[in-house]
Amino acid sequence: MANTANHIVAVACEQPGLLFRARQLAELFHLPLAEAEGEEFRYLLLVTDQRLELRQAGKGAPGPIYADFLAGAAHYRRKHGGGRDQAVAKAVGVRGKHLPSVFDATAGLGGDSFVLACLGCQVRMFERAPVIFALLEDGIKRAMGDKELGPLIRRRLRLTLGDSRRFLQTLQKNIPEVVYLDPMYPHREKNALAKKEMRLLRALVGDDHDAEELFLVAMTCGAKRVVVKRPRLAPPLADREPDLLLAGKSSRFDVYFP
Ligand SMILES: C[S@@+](CC[C@H](N)C(=O)[O-])C[C@H]1O[C@@H](n2cnc3c(N)ncnc32)[C@H](O)[C@@H]1O
Repeated sequence: MANTANHIVAVACEQPGLLFRARQLAELFHLPLAEAEGEEFRYLLLVTDQRLELRQAGKGAPGPIYADFLAGAAHYRRKHGGGRDQAVAKAVGVRGKHLPSVFDATAGLGGDSFVLACLGCQVRMFERAPVIFALLEDGIKRAMGDKELGPLIRRRLRLTLGDSRRFLQTLQKNIPEVVYLDPMYPHREKNALAKKEMRLLRALVGDDHDAEELFLVAMTCGAKRVVVKRPRLAPPLADREPDLLLAGKSSRFDVYFP
């Protein structure tokens, strides 16, 4: 589905000194700039002196979302998340010295890619929604400045703005071993991540109604393995039974060997 965010999101900055950066972003992603007080937009892509974040306007709105690999859930999971025993690691085929190259076709805020990169995989990420891409790019840049994480991020994570379907359809060399898919699932509100991030992400980009098409492209691009993350009780994508199934805490990983 095409990104529907552009007409409801504006770029803003927290203080006048950040206006230049806000202008740059607005131009780059063809978003309006919220300059005057009182201008009403449903979401603001806000430049603060610490990071880029997405805020929902209005009373009772959830807190901001942003990509963060240095603290919070990503940091905790890196330190205490179970390493190679995590279902996602097994699903992509991390085993012994084998660290597959992964194409994350639905990058979102980069949580899954980051886990895999920390385990040693080379991960190429694609995100098609400009606002989500901007948040993720900002999180990656901040992590690059970190002494411990910077080298790892530089070596193992690469992000591109664009539609994975088109990219995978034309792929002729450097075919990744694994294509990883985590499309938006319509009824995902009850799991943990859905609480804030997913609700906001979905409100912005909608459900990924073309996920089946992406799956079919992934299955024919030459990759040895396709992994689809699904809510635990959801039917398999495109009604295609997986060759292997791994259950995580709130999700399940359907693994295919095309
Ligand atoms: C559920 S989120 C992914 C969350 C991610 N796994 C994480 O850990 O943060 C799905 C994301 O995939 C993106 N997406 C869906 N289809 C895509 C496609 N064909 N190409 C690029 N991005 C896509 C959506 O814009 C959305 O941001």
